[in-house]
Amino acid sequence: MRYVVTGAAGFIGSQLADALVEAGHEVSGIDCFTDYYDPAEKEENARGLDVSRLDLAADRLDFGGADGVFHLAAQAGVRSFGDVFPLYLRQNVLATQRVFEAAVAAGARVVFTSSSSVYGEAEAYPTPESAQPRPISPYGITKLACEHLAHAYATGFGLDAVVLRYFTVYGPRQRPDMFLRRVCDALLAGTTFEIYGTGEQSRSFTEVGDAVAATMAAMERAPAGAVYNVGGGEEASLLEAIALLERISGRSLDTRRVDAARGDVARTKADVSRIRDALGWEPRTTLADGLAAMWSWASGRLRAA
Ligand SMILES: NC(=O)c1ccc[n+]([C@@H]2O[C@H](COP(=O)([O-])OP(=O)(O)OC[C@H]3O[C@@H](n4cnc5c(N)ncnc54)[C@H](O)[C@@H]3O)[C@@H](O)[C@H]2O)c1
Repeated sequence: MRYVVTGAAGFIGSQLADALVEAGHEVSGIDCFTDYYDPAEKEENARGLDVSRLDLAADRLDFGGADGVFHLAAQAGVRSFGDVFPLYLRQNVLATQRVFEAAVAAGARVVFTSSSSVYGEAEAYPTPESAQPRPISPYGITKLACEHLAHAYATGFGLDAVVLRYFTVYGPRQRPDMFLRRVCDALLAGTTFEIYGTGEQSRSFTEVGDAVAATMAAMERAPAGAVYNVGGGEEASLLEAIALLERISGRSLDTRRVDAARGDVARTKADVSRIRDALGWEPRTTLADGLAAMWSWASGRLRAA
């Protein structure tokens, strides 16, 4: 098959593009290498991939000949109040609207990657897809807007779209602003780690290989219009995840508590029964195994540097 992957130089997009190539597909990546984090890291991620430098919010998009578009490009991160809000609107809402227009023109299916952030402080745990979305960050609001755009383009123009709500994805190449990556970096550098809030916040941590498998299965087999949670099977608090990484690394982390970040929820726990029943997908990697692989990547990368 011929697939387009947007955000192909990012954390999950590059892992997905690698897996698609490995499975024998033809992959055209798109990424504009934003400076949200060091673009050199994105160059590293994209090594060996065919990635066009296109800005989805501005450049002409032509998906002609593609069987499907994996739309992962976005401005991620829940710290989205204040001056950065226009950027979130541009990279998420505007870029996604343009991707949907181009996908309709090309007759290509789209898998859009949304986020557990759409739930906000969820009304139930584990959280099913039917829970009322009530995002508490502007980021979550832009992701929810994109989900509604997918529905509007499906209704108005027959767009064939599937929505995946990822829950805290981790593993090799994780973004440097994300919690587990920051823990690895602080353990490696021996620096003090700032914990936002009490550290009792918990997450359905999702290993990136599991997230990639769900994403490929969604493109191949999901019915049009489906919305699925993609979440890890094990819920852990931030403090528990730190303790695991300390054990794996054989190091101890010097921590300091700082104020909780606005827009950060206290808990996420995915109900994955819908995707399990429809696509036969479920998370396979334990947090201990996933963190061991992530630590090995992070420490190997430092050694190579
Ligand atoms: N990492 C997670 O835990 C997580 C959780 C929920 C949802 N998601 C979603 O998964 C997707 C991938 O996340 P990630 O963690 O890999 O993020 P990432 O920042 O590593 O990757 C996103 C990529 O999109 C690119 N991009 C941004 N705006 C663009 C534009 N206008 N044109 C072209 N490229 C553009 C960036 O340069 C970046 O390389 C995002 O849509 C994110 O919202 C991620």
